[in-house]
Amino acid sequence: MNNWKTRPAKNISGDIKVPGDKSISHRSIMLAALAEGRSEITGFLQGEDCLATRAAFASMGVNIVDVDNKIIIDGVGLHGLTAPRQAIDVGNSGTGMRLLAGVLAGQTFASTLVGDASLMTRPMRRVAEPLVRMGANITTLENGCAPIKILPATHLRSIDYRQNISSAQVKSAILLAGLYAEGKIRIQEPGISRDHTERMLRQFSYPVESMECGDGRITTLVGGGQLVATAVKVPADISSAAFFMVAGAIGRGELRLQQVGINPTRTGIIDILQCMGADLRYENLQDDPEPVADIIVKASSLKNICVPKALIPLAIDEFPIIFIAAACAEGEFVLKNAKELRVKESDRIEAMASGLRALGVDCQTLEDGIIIRGNPENPFPQQATVNSFTDHRIAMSFAVAGIRAAAGITIVDCDNVATSFPHFRQLADAVGMRIESC
Ligand code: S3P
Repeated sequence: MNNWKTRPAKNISGDIKVPGDKSISHRSIMLAALAEGRSEITGFLQGEDCLATRAAFASMGVNIVDVDNKIIIDGVGLHGLTAPRQAIDVGNSGTGMRLLAGVLAGQTFASTLVGDASLMTRPMRRVAEPLVRMGANITTLENGCAPIKILPATHLRSIDYRQNISSAQVKSAILLAGLYAEGKIRIQEPGISRDHTERMLRQFSYPVESMECGDGRITTLVGGGQLVATAVKVPADISSAAFFMVAGAIGRGELRLQQVGINPTRTGIIDILQCMGADLRYENLQDDPEPVADIIVKASSLKNICVPKALIPLAIDEFPIIFIAAACAEGEFVLKNAKELRVKESDRIEAMASGLRALGVDCQTLEDGIIIRGNPENPFPQQATVNSFTDHRIAMSFAVAGIRAAAGITIVDCDNVATSFPHFRQLADAVGMRIESC
């Protein structure tokens, strides 16, 4: 087991590029595999989660090779996958499992999806239920968890589905199954979730319509078309950049994060940090075709806020690191309506609260959120050992907290950082963070 020990940092500065976007990398493998023709992917995230998705499609007969810094995929078309020899193991990846469930629901062969100990406890009924309504032959365990077993369905039909939570994974599973359905797929979400699947389907020449509806969105697609191979450029992951945005804001100095994806369905972290007073701005904006920009962040005096509900799905993966910013900010930070945080790679409300309390931070958990009373002078007054709960984002969040922890933090079990951010330690070192293995 890999444990880390932090020492406080003197200065946080530099010019770095974080690795490729995890959500977009997963989708690039899936759509390229199902397309007609040869696709080329640049900037793919070589993290364990996306590599598991790559291996899943290779196990279904898709030829995927690395050439220079690109991945070349010979698409087999929507009906060209072949039965995998064994259960597909997606490791720690909720995105891999849920999106694959959508793809596999439309196949003429049987399959089983499994994952690691953490993933096998996460809720999968949320994808199985709408897929069954579409006519899929798909089951979870009685408790709604994986293994997910999928048998061939006679045919998939149209669906008009109203989601009660905003989940891009559920929406994407339905859209991917929808490629195999007769008729129209219509999904209504109560809030806006990330739209990478919709954008990438269009990039692969598949029509998808989206329109705003109240605080959320309606997305529609008609089954039976085909995907046409294309070149995909994966931008740097805003969720990985988030650790350095907060490092820059709570440290001393200035950081430039190059060409980060700033899709408006992902920029909740930037809105929240700016509301908290972070000195953070964009340069070199481009549409590539996802919007990207350099993000410049400077040491800032932060003030706590009550997080607006509409920003929650737009920052859903960034709350662990936002809680670290909150501990360094003046006043009371309030997050409510964020129950989803309890079913991520860990229960992120309890996992963060337990580490924050051990470090002497004044915080109180709620069923659907947290209240944190920050201390800008001495945010983490106690020396402590904190647990990552095998969650990559918890480990990296406490590593960033180490910048301001005078007595140091020991973080137990950091292996899972490799699922999303394989070279985190090297980049952290490069900007002045001090993390050692112990
Ligand atoms: C993701 C969607 C989000 C996010 C996850 C990645 C995706 O999950 O938390 O890390 O790539 O679609 P939900 O859709 O379940 O909120």
